[in-house]
Amino acid sequence: MTLLALEDVHAFYGEAHILQGISLTVHPGEVVTLIGRNGAGKTTTLRSIMGIAAPKRGRVRFRDEDISRLPTHEIARRGIAYVPEERRVLPNLTVLENLRLGTLGARRHGPVGIDQALDFFPRLRERIAHKGRFLSGGEQQMLAVARGLVAAPALMLVDEPTEGLAPLLVRTLMDVLADVNRRGTAILLVEQALEVALALSHRLYVIDQGRIRFEGTSAELRRDPAIGQRFLGV
Ligand SMILES: Nc1ncnc2c1ncn2[C@@H]1O[C@H](COP(=O)(O)OP(=O)(O)OP(=O)(O)O)[C@@H](O)[C@H]1O
Ligand SMILES: [Mg+2]
Repeated sequence: MTLLALEDVHAFYGEAHILQGISLTVHPGEVVTLIGRNGAGKTTTLRSIMGIAAPKRGRVRFRDEDISRLPTHEIARRGIAYVPEERRVLPNLTVLENLRLGTLGARRHGPVGIDQALDFFPRLRERIAHKGRFLSGGEQQMLAVARGLVAAPALMLVDEPTEGLAPLLVRTLMDVLADVNRRGTAILLVEQALEVALALSHRLYVIDQGRIRFEGTSAELRRDPAIGQRFLGV
């Protein structure tokens, strides 16, 4: 069974034709990474899945249901958690309150409750009573991911979680995502750090100018350095 399938998705911002026929799949239990340069359409792809930049043409299927015309909160309720690039930690709520908000949309109680999310990120436990606005950038990123986890999703969409983080925190975050995945949550990751992406992913898609240019495993991508040179500038 395919968990998520984008079929020839076209998305626009006003007149600008951004996604020009994106097709991709995520199977249950997979980590799939979308990589590409700045402005390639990675975030827009995640936003089209969530119905924020709803597809004008094509379909998004989740567990064999067409979700392309559903409102965002209905998509979330079906088991997709979105951790956006800009983190969106609520500044006037504490860490605990932010986490409780994350559980609201959840339809089921999954394997990761608030307590366990805090086990993943001991630093957040220390900061549990602090308001969002007093957290460092790294702590906000941990909180954004933890808030996604407590929604008990079947699929997590995570947009550039390592951006701007210290190397040690990158490691922590990657370990958490790998652990979460081993417990059965599928992940669609957007990542600019190629080595991080290659290490974590079962499969990758390279996107450029709103189109998929490559699909394959980490090993296949490593065997094809021309792809990296052409579309990733590495
Ligand atoms: N709200 C918007 N209105 C108009 N154009 C937008 C909007 N958001 C993004 N774009 C344009 O759409 C294209 C794709 O943007 P997108 O944010 O999906 O890229 P990205 O691959 O996530 O890039 P980055 O690596 O910088 O995050 C870019 O050309 C961008 O300028
Ligand atoms: Mg982006």
